[in-house]
Amino acid sequence: MPEANHFSCITSIAGTGSYVPEKILTNQELEKLVDTSDEWITSRTGIKERRIAADDEATSDLASRAAEKAMEQSGVTAEELDLIIVATVSPDMFFPATACFVQRKIQAVNAVCFDISAACSGFLYALQIARHFVNTGSRTTALIIGAEKLSSMVNWEDRNTCVLFGDGAGAAIVRRDDDARNTSRRILSTVMYSDGNQTDILVVPGGGSACPITPENASEKLNTVRMEGREVYKYAVNAMRDAAEKALEAAGLGPDDVDMVIPHQANRRIIEAITDRLGIPSERVFVNLDKYGNTSAAAIAIALDEANRSGAIKKGDILLLVAFGAGLTWAATVIEW
Ligand code: UT7
Repeated sequence: MPEANHFSCITSIAGTGSYVPEKILTNQELEKLVDTSDEWITSRTGIKERRIAADDEATSDLASRAAEKAMEQSGVTAEELDLIIVATVSPDMFFPATACFVQRKIQAVNAVCFDISAACSGFLYALQIARHFVNTGSRTTALIIGAEKLSSMVNWEDRNTCVLFGDGAGAAIVRRDDDARNTSRRILSTVMYSDGNQTDILVVPGGGSACPITPENASEKLNTVRMEGREVYKYAVNAMRDAAEKALEAAGLGPDDVDMVIPHQANRRIIEAITDRLGIPSERVFVNLDKYGNTSAAAIAIALDEANRSGAIKKGDILLLVAFGAGLTWAATVIEW
């Protein structure tokens, strides 16, 4: 269901931050690992390189670095945070929540912390959850993070998937602002959807309670990502375009009003298919997947921070964020920056 901003107060994004690991893995280096080529990866996806976290770097480490930058930009202290939501499919551990590890690392002693699992849509789901907490007055200052160490769950012998993914984290501070006239970065509308009938087309089948990991199925790499790429592609284009239209409609806007689209960064062809159908030209679409690949829940969060810090978006701009991922899950959000 679309949700316009019918709340009596306005939720705003006070600041953003992101962090990607130092190590770069290029397409040329992947050519030495699997039967692939820079030409195939570039022409089919647009990806040129991705970041890979160090062995001793966990998802919560990436998340904490991104969080510190978002807090610094918004002038919010760790003690002021009363909610931390981490969206991830590559948590540090099954439990405790990665958000609790972040809490410890940044010493946000007053925060309530939990993770959500919505794959590549996770950051937009987290944004909407935080918005509800803040708008009801239950919390005042939320830290939301999309963070992934996908390199730890990719089958490095499967060329269908290993060339696509990367590691990184992006964060935002979501705050209540009662005086809408003085507010920028307002969340205007959000739509969220799921389709559990398609759980099989993008999945890590092993390692959970349905299929605990054993030496036998570990050797079959059941605890790594499996994807029916072409199927996912078809769903992604239709679902993201529909969500984008619904979120714009809920905000009382149309595609011509959008100053910048910040889409999930999975595949340049998917992004072009959606924005072409919406009639939005490429100069109004933010793309950084060439540098980072698909970082799942982190992708939109990193892109939003890069757009913010680089000046690609400015005060008053209408942003359209649109995501799609495993579940299936998809979502779109309209923000007046
Ligand atoms: O983040 C969550 C959402 N995820 C997505 O949105 C991803 C959606 N899917 C996609 O982006 C695309 O489907 C892929 C990039 C994954 C694949 O592109 P495609 O154009 O759909 O290729 P395909 O899977 O249909 O494979 C075409 C060919 C196959 O060979 P044959 O059967 O035609 O001989 C594959 O075996 O390309 C082959 N192939 C590769 N060749 C070189 C698959 N991976 C590779 C590779 N290098 N890495």
